[in-house]
Amino acid sequence: MKVLVIGTGGREHALALALSRDPQVTEVHAAPGNPGMAVIATLHPVDPLDGVAVADLATRTGADLVVVGPEAPLVAGVADAVREAGVACFGPSAEAAQIEGSKAFAKQVMAAADVPTALARVCETDEQVADALDAFGAPYVVKDDALAAGKGVVVTDDRDAALAHGTSCDRVVIEEFLDGPEVSLFAITDGSTVLPLQPAQDFKRAYDGDEGPNTGGMGAYTPLAWAPDDLVADVCRRVLVPTVEQMASRGTPFQGLLYAGLALTSRGLRVIEFNARFGDPETQALLALLKTPLSALLHGAATGTLGEVGLPQWHDGAAVTIVVAAEGYPQAPVQGDRIEGVDEANALEGVDVIHAGTRIDEDGNLVTAGGRVLSVTAVGESLDQARERAYAAVDLIRIRGGHHRTDIAARQPG
Ligand code: AMP
Ligand code: GLY
Repeated sequence: MKVLVIGTGGREHALALALSRDPQVTEVHAAPGNPGMAVIATLHPVDPLDGVAVADLATRTGADLVVVGPEAPLVAGVADAVREAGVACFGPSAEAAQIEGSKAFAKQVMAAADVPTALARVCETDEQVADALDAFGAPYVVKDDALAAGKGVVVTDDRDAALAHGTSCDRVVIEEFLDGPEVSLFAITDGSTVLPLQPAQDFKRAYDGDEGPNTGGMGAYTPLAWAPDDLVADVCRRVLVPTVEQMASRGTPFQGLLYAGLALTSRGLRVIEFNARFGDPETQALLALLKTPLSALLHGAATGTLGEVGLPQWHDGAAVTIVVAAEGYPQAPVQGDRIEGVDEANALEGVDVIHAGTRIDEDGNLVTAGGRVLSVTAVGESLDQARERAYAAVDLIRIRGGHHRTDIAARQPG
Protein backbone atom coordinates (compact mmCIF):
# COMPACT_ATOMS: atom_id res chain seq x y z
CA MET A 1 0.00 0.00 0.00
CA LYS A 2 1.20 3.54 -0.85
CA VAL A 3 0.26 6.14 1.73
CA LEU A 4 0.34 9.94 1.55
CA VAL A 5 0.43 11.83 4.86
CA ILE A 6 -0.68 15.49 4.88
CA GLY A 7 0.86 17.87 7.43
CA THR A 8 4.15 19.04 8.89
CA GLY A 9 4.06 18.42 12.63
CA GLY A 10 5.05 15.88 15.23
CA ARG A 11 1.82 13.95 14.84
CA GLU A 12 2.40 13.61 11.09
CA HIS A 13 6.02 12.55 11.57
CA ALA A 14 4.87 9.89 14.06
CA LEU A 15 2.19 8.67 11.63
CA ALA A 16 4.68 8.53 8.75
CA LEU A 17 7.22 6.73 10.94
CA ALA A 18 4.72 4.07 12.01
CA LEU A 19 3.63 3.62 8.39
CA SER A 20 7.27 3.35 7.23
CA ARG A 21 7.71 0.45 9.69
CA ASP A 22 4.45 -1.22 8.65
CA PRO A 23 5.10 -4.32 6.50
CA GLN A 24 1.91 -3.65 4.52
CA VAL A 25 3.17 -0.23 3.39
CA THR A 26 5.45 -0.06 0.36
CA GLU A 27 5.85 3.73 0.00
CA VAL A 28 5.29 6.67 2.29
CA HIS A 29 4.80 10.13 0.80
CA ALA A 30 4.25 13.30 2.77
CA ALA A 31 3.21 16.86 1.96
CA PRO A 32 4.64 19.20 2.88
CA GLY A 33 6.38 17.13 5.59
CA ASN A 34 9.42 18.17 7.63
CA PRO A 35 13.14 17.31 7.77
CA GLY A 36 12.50 14.35 10.07
CA MET A 37 9.93 12.93 7.68
CA ALA A 38 12.34 13.40 4.76
CA VAL A 39 14.36 10.46 6.10
CA ILE A 40 11.46 8.00 5.85
CA ALA A 41 9.16 9.48 3.19
CA THR A 42 9.20 11.23 -0.17
CA LEU A 43 8.25 14.86 0.43
CA HIS A 44 6.14 17.00 -1.91
CA PRO A 45 5.76 20.80 -1.64
CA VAL A 46 1.99 21.13 -1.52
CA ASP A 47 -0.19 23.54 0.45
CA PRO A 48 -1.99 21.24 2.91
CA LEU A 49 -5.05 23.53 2.90
CA ASP A 50 -5.51 23.26 -0.88
CA GLY A 51 -7.86 20.30 -1.45
CA VAL A 52 -7.47 20.33 -5.24
CA ALA A 53 -3.67 20.28 -4.98
CA VAL A 54 -3.71 17.49 -2.36
CA ALA A 55 -6.13 15.40 -4.45
CA ASP A 56 -3.97 15.95 -7.51
CA LEU A 57 -0.86 14.86 -5.61
CA ALA A 58 -2.67 11.77 -4.34
CA THR A 59 -3.51 10.81 -7.92
CA ARG A 60 0.00 11.56 -9.21
CA THR A 61 1.70 9.50 -6.51
CA GLY A 62 -0.73 6.61 -6.99
CA ALA A 63 -1.57 6.74 -3.28
CA ASP A 64 -3.92 4.02 -2.05
CA LEU A 65 -4.62 6.01 1.09
CA VAL A 66 -4.32 9.65 2.13
CA VAL A 67 -4.07 10.48 5.84
CA VAL A 68 -4.90 14.08 6.73
CA GLY A 69 -3.13 14.94 9.99
CA PRO A 70 -4.12 18.41 11.21
CA GLU A 71 -7.53 19.92 11.84
CA ALA A 72 -7.25 22.96 9.55
CA PRO A 73 -7.22 20.98 6.26
CA LEU A 74 -10.05 18.78 7.53
CA VAL A 75 -12.18 21.80 8.39
CA ALA A 76 -11.27 23.22 4.95
CA GLY A 77 -12.63 20.10 3.20
CA VAL A 78 -9.37 18.52 2.04
CA ALA A 79 -10.58 14.98 2.85
CA ASP A 80 -13.72 15.62 0.76
CA ALA A 81 -11.60 16.73 -2.19
CA VAL A 82 -9.43 13.61 -1.99
CA ARG A 83 -12.45 11.33 -1.84
CA GLU A 84 -14.05 13.15 -4.78
CA ALA A 85 -10.92 12.29 -6.76
CA GLY A 86 -11.60 8.63 -6.02
CA VAL A 87 -8.80 8.09 -3.47
CA ALA A 88 -9.46 6.56 -0.04
CA CYS A 89 -8.89 9.15 2.67
CA PHE A 90 -8.58 8.85 6.43
CA GLY A 91 -10.23 11.90 7.95
CA PRO A 92 -13.70 13.41 8.32
CA SER A 93 -15.57 15.62 5.87
CA ALA A 94 -15.56 19.38 6.44
CA GLU A 95 -19.05 19.08 7.91
CA ALA A 96 -18.11 16.32 10.32
CA ALA A 97 -14.89 18.10 11.31
CA GLN A 98 -17.08 20.83 12.81
CA ILE A 99 -17.11 18.64 15.90
CA GLU A 100 -13.68 20.21 16.46
CA GLY A 101 -14.07 23.32 14.31
CA SER A 102 -16.91 24.73 16.42
CA LYS A 103 -17.16 24.17 20.14
CA ALA A 104 -20.81 25.26 19.99
CA PHE A 105 -21.55 22.57 17.37
CA ALA A 106 -19.81 19.95 19.51
CA LYS A 107 -22.01 20.93 22.46
CA GLN A 108 -25.14 20.51 20.29
CA VAL A 109 -24.04 17.03 19.22
CA MET A 110 -23.30 16.04 22.81
CA ALA A 111 -26.66 17.34 24.00
CA ALA A 112 -28.48 15.40 21.28
CA ALA A 113 -26.49 12.22 22.00
CA ASP A 114 -26.81 12.58 25.79
CA VAL A 115 -23.02 12.63 26.20
CA PRO A 116 -21.83 13.95 29.59
CA THR A 117 -20.03 17.30 29.29
CA ALA A 118 -19.65 20.60 31.13
CA LEU A 119 -22.73 22.82 31.26
CA ALA A 120 -22.07 25.67 28.87
CA ARG A 121 -23.43 28.85 27.34
CA VAL A 122 -22.61 30.19 23.90
CA CYS A 123 -22.10 33.98 24.07
CA GLU A 124 -21.89 36.59 21.33
CA THR A 125 -22.19 39.90 23.21
CA ASP A 126 -20.16 41.37 26.05
CA GLU A 127 -23.25 41.34 28.22
CA GLN A 128 -23.84 37.62 27.62
CA VAL A 129 -20.20 36.96 28.50
CA ALA A 130 -20.47 38.86 31.80
CA ASP A 131 -23.74 37.13 32.70
CA ALA A 132 -22.34 33.67 31.96
CA LEU A 133 -19.19 34.29 34.01
CA ASP A 134 -21.30 35.25 37.01
CA ALA A 135 -23.70 32.35 36.50
CA PHE A 136 -20.92 29.72 36.57
CA GLY A 137 -18.55 31.51 38.98
CA ALA A 138 -14.81 30.92 39.42
CA PRO A 139 -12.71 29.20 38.22
CA TYR A 140 -13.82 30.65 34.89
CA VAL A 141 -13.53 28.60 31.69
CA VAL A 142 -13.68 30.70 28.50
CA LYS A 143 -13.26 29.11 25.07
CA ASP A 144 -12.97 30.77 21.69
CA ASP A 145 -15.55 29.03 19.50
CA ALA A 146 -13.17 28.87 16.54
CA LEU A 147 -10.07 26.73 15.99
CA ALA A 148 -7.14 28.05 18.03
CA ALA A 149 -4.57 25.21 18.13
CA GLY A 150 -5.25 24.50 21.80
CA LYS A 151 -4.55 28.09 22.79
CA GLY A 152 -8.06 29.57 22.63
CA VAL A 153 -9.01 28.37 26.11
CA VAL A 154 -8.48 30.46 29.23
CA VAL A 155 -9.05 28.90 32.65
CA THR A 156 -8.61 31.47 35.41
CA ASP A 157 -9.83 32.75 38.78
CA ASP A 158 -9.33 36.30 37.53
CA ARG A 159 -12.71 37.62 36.37
CA ASP A 160 -11.13 40.54 34.50
CA ALA A 161 -8.89 38.18 32.50
CA ALA A 162 -11.86 35.89 31.76
CA LEU A 163 -13.94 38.86 30.64
CA ALA A 164 -11.13 40.24 28.49
CA HIS A 165 -10.69 36.90 26.67
CA GLY A 166 -14.44 36.40 26.28
CA THR A 167 -15.05 39.82 24.80
CA SER A 168 -12.04 39.52 22.44
CA CYS A 169 -13.59 36.54 20.61
CA ASP A 170 -16.44 36.77 18.10
CA ARG A 171 -18.25 33.88 19.65
CA VAL A 172 -17.26 32.23 22.89
CA VAL A 173 -18.32 29.23 24.95
CA ILE A 174 -18.32 29.76 28.71
CA GLU A 175 -18.72 26.68 30.84
CA GLU A 176 -18.56 25.17 34.29
CA PHE A 177 -15.14 24.20 35.62
CA LEU A 178 -14.37 20.48 35.58
CA ASP A 179 -12.12 19.12 38.33
CA GLY A 180 -10.21 15.83 38.24
CA PRO A 181 -7.53 14.30 36.03
CA GLU A 182 -7.68 14.57 32.25
CA VAL A 183 -7.51 11.62 29.88
CA SER A 184 -7.27 11.56 26.10
CA LEU A 185 -9.07 8.64 24.52
CA PHE A 186 -8.92 8.25 20.75
CA ALA A 187 -11.15 6.09 18.60
CA ILE A 188 -10.71 5.10 15.00
CA THR A 189 -14.04 4.89 13.22
CA ASP A 190 -15.41 4.33 9.75
CA GLY A 191 -18.67 5.99 10.73
CA SER A 192 -20.20 2.89 12.31
CA THR A 193 -17.54 0.59 13.81
CA VAL A 194 -15.67 2.30 16.68
CA LEU A 195 -12.25 0.98 17.75
CA PRO A 196 -10.79 2.69 20.83
CA LEU A 197 -7.05 3.14 21.28
CA GLN A 198 -5.57 2.90 24.77
CA PRO A 199 -5.91 5.96 27.01
CA ALA A 200 -3.12 8.52 27.15
CA GLN A 201 -2.48 11.65 29.15
CA ASP A 202 -1.39 14.99 27.79
CA PHE A 203 0.21 17.89 29.68
CA LYS A 204 -1.38 21.07 28.36
CA ARG A 205 0.23 23.75 30.52
CA ALA A 206 3.56 25.22 29.49
CA TYR A 207 5.51 24.83 32.73
CA ASP A 208 6.23 22.27 35.44
CA GLY A 209 3.52 21.63 37.99
CA ASP A 210 0.80 22.52 35.44
CA GLU A 211 1.69 26.21 35.67
CA GLY A 212 1.60 28.79 32.92
CA PRO A 213 -0.49 29.18 29.79
CA ASN A 214 -2.22 26.43 27.82
CA THR A 215 -0.24 25.03 24.91
CA GLY A 216 -0.88 22.50 22.18
CA GLY A 217 0.59 19.91 24.60
CA MET A 218 4.03 19.66 26.25
CA GLY A 219 4.25 15.89 26.71
CA ALA A 220 2.27 12.69 27.00
CA TYR A 221 2.40 9.11 28.17
CA THR A 222 0.50 5.87 27.80
CA PRO A 223 -0.88 3.57 29.20
CA LEU A 224 -2.49 5.04 32.33
CA ALA A 225 -1.93 2.49 35.10
CA TRP A 226 -4.05 4.57 37.47
CA ALA A 227 -7.14 4.78 35.26
CA PRO A 228 -10.21 2.74 36.23
CA ASP A 229 -10.33 -0.71 34.55
CA ASP A 230 -13.65 0.01 32.89
CA LEU A 231 -12.64 3.45 31.55
CA VAL A 232 -12.36 2.47 27.89
CA ALA A 233 -15.60 0.48 27.92
CA ASP A 234 -17.37 3.31 29.74
CA VAL A 235 -16.14 6.00 27.34
CA CYS A 236 -17.11 3.85 24.35
CA ARG A 237 -20.59 3.27 25.67
CA ARG A 238 -21.34 6.77 26.95
CA VAL A 239 -19.30 9.00 24.65
CA LEU A 240 -17.75 7.54 21.50
CA VAL A 241 -20.49 5.26 20.20
CA PRO A 242 -23.38 7.69 20.85
CA THR A 243 -21.41 10.52 19.23
CA VAL A 244 -20.59 8.49 16.12
CA GLU A 245 -24.24 7.39 15.90
CA GLN A 246 -25.45 10.95 16.34
CA MET A 247 -23.14 12.22 13.59
CA ALA A 248 -24.42 9.51 11.23
CA SER A 249 -28.04 10.24 12.01
CA ARG A 250 -27.50 13.96 11.27
CA GLY A 251 -26.31 12.99 7.79
CA THR A 252 -22.70 13.95 8.59
CA PRO A 253 -21.08 10.60 9.39
CA PHE A 254 -17.73 10.93 11.15
CA GLN A 255 -14.93 8.86 9.63
CA GLY A 256 -11.39 9.14 10.93
CA LEU A 257 -10.02 9.72 14.41
CA LEU A 258 -12.45 10.92 17.05
CA TYR A 259 -10.48 12.39 19.95
CA ALA A 260 -12.29 12.60 23.26
CA GLY A 261 -10.62 14.91 25.78
CA LEU A 262 -12.10 13.81 29.10
CA ALA A 263 -12.12 14.92 32.71
CA LEU A 264 -12.64 12.25 35.36
CA THR A 265 -14.44 14.55 37.79
CA SER A 266 -15.72 13.94 41.29
CA ARG A 267 -19.18 13.78 39.69
CA GLY A 268 -18.17 11.33 36.96
CA LEU A 269 -16.89 11.32 33.41
CA ARG A 270 -17.22 14.53 31.36
CA VAL A 271 -16.11 15.41 27.83
CA ILE A 272 -13.91 18.52 27.78
CA GLU A 273 -13.62 18.63 24.02
CA PHE A 274 -13.69 16.62 20.84
CA ASN A 275 -11.04 16.81 18.17
CA ALA A 276 -11.42 15.46 14.66
CA ARG A 277 -7.85 14.12 14.31
CA PHE A 278 -5.04 12.42 16.17
CA GLY A 279 -3.91 14.40 19.21
CA ASP A 280 -0.44 15.82 19.41
CA PRO A 281 1.70 14.73 21.31
CA GLU A 282 -0.35 11.74 22.58
CA THR A 283 -0.13 10.14 19.11
CA GLN A 284 3.66 10.00 19.30
CA ALA A 285 3.46 7.92 22.51
CA LEU A 286 0.53 5.78 21.36
CA LEU A 287 1.98 4.82 18.00
CA ALA A 288 5.25 3.80 19.67
CA LEU A 289 3.31 1.01 21.40
CA LEU A 290 0.81 0.07 18.69
CA LYS A 291 1.26 -3.54 17.57
CA THR A 292 -1.54 -3.72 14.98
CA PRO A 293 -0.32 -2.42 11.59
CA LEU A 294 -1.40 1.23 11.46
CA SER A 295 -2.26 1.01 7.77
CA ALA A 296 -4.89 -1.65 8.46
CA LEU A 297 -6.71 0.61 10.92
CA LEU A 298 -6.51 3.74 8.78
CA HIS A 299 -7.43 1.98 5.53
CA GLY A 300 -10.26 0.09 7.25
CA ALA A 301 -11.70 3.39 8.49
CA ALA A 302 -11.29 5.10 5.13
CA THR A 303 -13.01 2.28 3.22
CA GLY A 304 -15.82 1.42 5.64
CA THR A 305 -14.31 -1.98 6.46
CA LEU A 306 -13.07 -1.37 9.99
CA GLY A 307 -15.30 -4.16 11.30
CA GLU A 308 -12.91 -6.64 9.66
CA VAL A 309 -9.83 -5.27 11.42
CA GLY A 310 -10.44 -6.12 15.07
CA LEU A 311 -9.46 -4.26 18.22
CA PRO A 312 -6.02 -2.60 18.14
CA GLN A 313 -3.31 -4.63 19.87
CA TRP A 314 -0.54 -3.06 21.99
CA HIS A 315 2.99 -3.85 23.02
CA ASP A 316 3.57 -4.25 26.76
CA GLY A 317 5.38 -1.49 28.58
CA ALA A 318 4.94 2.25 28.34
CA ALA A 319 5.78 5.20 26.13
CA VAL A 320 6.59 8.79 27.08
CA THR A 321 6.82 11.84 24.81
CA ILE A 322 8.51 15.07 25.87
CA VAL A 323 8.05 18.18 23.77
CA VAL A 324 11.06 20.42 23.34
CA ALA A 325 9.73 23.91 22.64
CA ALA A 326 11.34 27.02 21.20
CA GLU A 327 12.20 30.05 23.28
CA GLY A 328 9.05 32.08 23.88
CA TYR A 329 6.55 29.27 23.20
CA PRO A 330 3.57 29.49 23.45
CA GLN A 331 3.32 33.32 23.43
CA ALA A 332 5.93 34.25 20.79
CA PRO A 333 8.15 31.37 19.71
CA VAL A 334 11.54 32.37 18.35
CA GLN A 335 12.39 30.73 15.03
CA GLY A 336 15.64 29.96 13.26
CA ASP A 337 17.76 28.71 16.20
CA ARG A 338 20.17 25.85 15.57
CA ILE A 339 19.11 22.40 16.82
CA GLU A 340 21.95 20.09 17.82
CA GLY A 341 22.22 16.59 19.25
CA VAL A 342 19.28 15.03 17.38
CA ASP A 343 21.27 12.14 15.91
CA GLU A 344 22.87 11.26 19.26
CA ALA A 345 19.48 11.36 20.99
CA ASN A 346 17.84 9.30 18.24
CA ALA A 347 20.52 6.61 18.60
CA LEU A 348 19.57 5.87 22.22
CA GLU A 349 17.75 2.60 22.83
CA GLY A 350 13.97 2.84 22.54
CA VAL A 351 14.08 6.50 21.45
CA ASP A 352 12.62 8.26 18.41
CA VAL A 353 13.23 11.97 18.01
CA ILE A 354 10.13 13.19 16.21
CA HIS A 355 10.32 16.51 14.37
CA ALA A 356 7.49 18.97 14.94
CA GLY A 357 8.68 22.47 14.05
CA THR A 358 12.00 22.19 12.23
CA ARG A 359 13.47 23.16 8.88
CA ILE A 360 16.81 23.10 7.09
CA ASP A 361 18.20 26.63 6.64
CA GLU A 362 20.21 28.06 3.73
CA ASP A 363 23.44 26.72 5.25
CA GLY A 364 22.07 23.21 5.57
CA ASN A 365 21.61 23.38 9.33
CA LEU A 366 18.59 22.04 11.21
CA VAL A 367 16.84 25.03 12.83
CA THR A 368 13.67 25.75 14.77
CA ALA A 369 10.61 26.59 12.67
CA GLY A 370 7.70 26.37 15.10
CA GLY A 371 6.73 26.60 18.74
CA ARG A 372 6.91 22.91 19.47
CA VAL A 373 10.21 21.91 17.88
CA LEU A 374 10.70 18.21 18.68
CA SER A 375 8.70 15.51 20.44
CA VAL A 376 11.17 13.09 21.92
CA THR A 377 9.50 9.70 22.39
CA ALA A 378 10.80 6.65 24.23
CA VAL A 379 9.39 3.23 25.00
CA GLY A 380 10.36 1.13 28.01
CA GLU A 381 9.35 -1.93 29.94
CA SER A 382 7.94 0.38 32.61
CA LEU A 383 6.78 3.97 32.68
CA ASP A 384 9.88 4.85 34.74
CA GLN A 385 12.18 3.34 32.15
CA ALA A 386 10.40 5.06 29.27
CA ARG A 387 10.57 8.41 31.09
CA GLU A 388 14.25 8.01 31.95
CA ARG A 389 15.09 7.16 28.36
CA ALA A 390 13.08 10.09 27.02
CA TYR A 391 14.74 12.56 29.40
CA ALA A 392 18.20 11.12 28.66
CA ALA A 393 17.51 11.86 24.99
CA VAL A 394 16.17 15.36 25.72
CA ASP A 395 19.36 16.07 27.69
CA LEU A 396 21.42 15.46 24.52
CA ILE A 397 19.47 18.03 22.50
CA ARG A 398 20.71 21.60 22.45
CA ILE A 399 18.61 24.56 21.28
CA ARG A 400 19.42 28.10 22.41
CA GLY A 401 16.50 29.17 24.59
CA GLY A 402 14.77 25.81 24.16
CA HIS A 403 12.60 24.62 27.03
CA HIS A 404 10.71 21.52 28.11
CA ARG A 405 8.78 20.33 31.13
CA THR A 406 10.76 18.17 33.55
CA ASP A 407 7.72 16.49 35.15
CA ILE A 408 6.08 14.64 32.25
CA ALA A 409 4.64 11.32 33.55
CA ALA A 410 6.39 11.93 36.87
CA ARG A 411 3.33 12.05 39.11
CA GLN A 412 0.32 9.79 38.78
CA PRO A 413 -3.13 11.07 39.74
CA GLY A 414 -5.11 9.31 42.46
P1 AMP B 1 -9.79 22.42 25.17
O1 AMP B 1 -9.12 23.14 24.04
O2 AMP B 1 -11.26 22.56 25.20
O3 AMP B 1 -9.29 21.01 25.31
O4 AMP B 1 -9.20 23.06 26.50
C1 AMP B 1 -7.82 23.10 26.74
C2 AMP B 1 -7.57 22.76 28.19
O5 AMP B 1 -8.25 23.70 29.04
C3 AMP B 1 -8.09 21.41 28.63
O6 AMP B 1 -7.21 20.37 28.34
C4 AMP B 1 -8.24 21.62 30.12
O7 AMP B 1 -6.98 21.52 30.77
C5 AMP B 1 -8.70 23.04 30.21
N1 AMP B 1 -10.18 23.06 30.25
C6 AMP B 1 -11.00 23.12 29.19
N2 AMP B 1 -12.30 23.09 29.59
C7 AMP B 1 -12.28 22.98 30.92
C8 AMP B 1 -13.30 22.91 31.94
N3 AMP B 1 -14.59 22.98 31.65
N4 AMP B 1 -12.89 22.80 33.22
C9 AMP B 1 -11.58 22.76 33.54
N5 AMP B 1 -10.58 22.84 32.65
C10 AMP B 1 -10.91 22.96 31.35
N1 GLY C 1 -2.92 17.10 22.67
C1 GLY C 1 -3.94 18.04 22.43
C2 GLY C 1 -4.40 18.13 21.07
O1 GLY C 1 -3.93 17.46 20.19
O2 GLY C 1 -5.31 18.91 20.83
